[in-house]
Amino acid sequence: MQQIFDFAERCLFDSGIERKRALTHQARQLLGDNSLSLQACGEVLPISNTIFPSKPQLLMPRDMPKRRLDTPEGKAAFFHALAHIEFVAIYLAWDIIYRFRGLPDDFYRDWLMIADEEALHFAMIREHLLTLGADYGDLPAHRGLWSHAEDTADDILARLAVVPRCMEARGLDVTPAMIDKLKAMGDDAGVAILTRIYQDEIGHVERGSYWFNTLARQRGLEPEACYRELILSYYKGKPKGPFNREVRIIAGFSNNEIDWLEERLHE
Ligand SMILES: [Fe+2]
Ligand SMILES: [Fe+2]
Repeated sequence: MQQIFDFAERCLFDSGIERKRALTHQARQLLGDNSLSLQACGEVLPISNTIFPSKPQLLMPRDMPKRRLDTPEGKAAFFHALAHIEFVAIYLAWDIIYRFRGLPDDFYRDWLMIADEEALHFAMIREHLLTLGADYGDLPAHRGLWSHAEDTADDILARLAVVPRCMEARGLDVTPAMIDKLKAMGDDAGVAILTRIYQDEIGHVERGSYWFNTLARQRGLEPEACYRELILSYYKGKPKGPFNREVRIIAGFSNNEIDWLEERLHE
C-alpha cells in the first residue's frame, strides 16, 4: 500500500509544480479508495530542506512593487500574489501532515483533503492569471508566508494557531471585499474563483480550530487561553482587523477569542 508520508516527502522536497498537483490529487484519490496507508514511516527531515521552485523570485514585503487592481498589470500582480498564497498553502498542508506524527488518522485525512483543495485553488488562479498574460513565476512573490511554517516547525499547537487560525483566518476577513472589487470590475471568472476559494477556506479554518481545540484539551490545556498565549508569543505587534466575526464563528472561533482579538486592535 502507498504511504501518505511518502507522498508528503515527494511534494515537499521537489520543486515540480505540476508534479505536486498530480501527486496531491493522486494521494487524495487513494485515500478515498481506502488505499493509502496513514502509518508513520521514514524519518522526518528538517523543514529547512523544503524545496521551492527557482521562480518566483521571493522578496521581502517592503520590496514588493505596489499594485493597483484597476490597471492590467495590477490585476495580473494581484492574481499572481493569490497564486503564490495558494501555492505555499499546498506546502503548508503537506508539511502539517509530514512533520507532526502520531496524531489521529482523521487529522491526516483532513489535511490531505485540504492539500488537494489548495492545489485546485492554485490551478484555478493560475489559469485565470494566464488569461491576463502572465504565468506563476513571472513576477516576484512575498517571502514571508513560509516563515510562519518555519517558526512553528516543532509545535503542532503553535502551527495550528498561526497558520489556519491566523493567516488563513485573515483571508476570511479580507476576501469578501476583494470579491466586491472584482464584481465592480466585471471580472465574473475571478469572482467565481474567489467565491469558491472563500467557501473552502472557511472549512480549512474550521478544521484548524477543531484540531487546535481537540489537541489542546488532550494535552490538558484550556484552548482559549492557549490560543491567546501562542498568538502573543508569535505576533509581537497588533493584529490586523477588522474581523469577519460571523464567518470566523462558523470557522470555529469563539466570541471570546474574537473579542480578545478586537481588544488588541485598540490597545
Ligand atoms: Fe486556498
Ligand atoms: Fe486554505
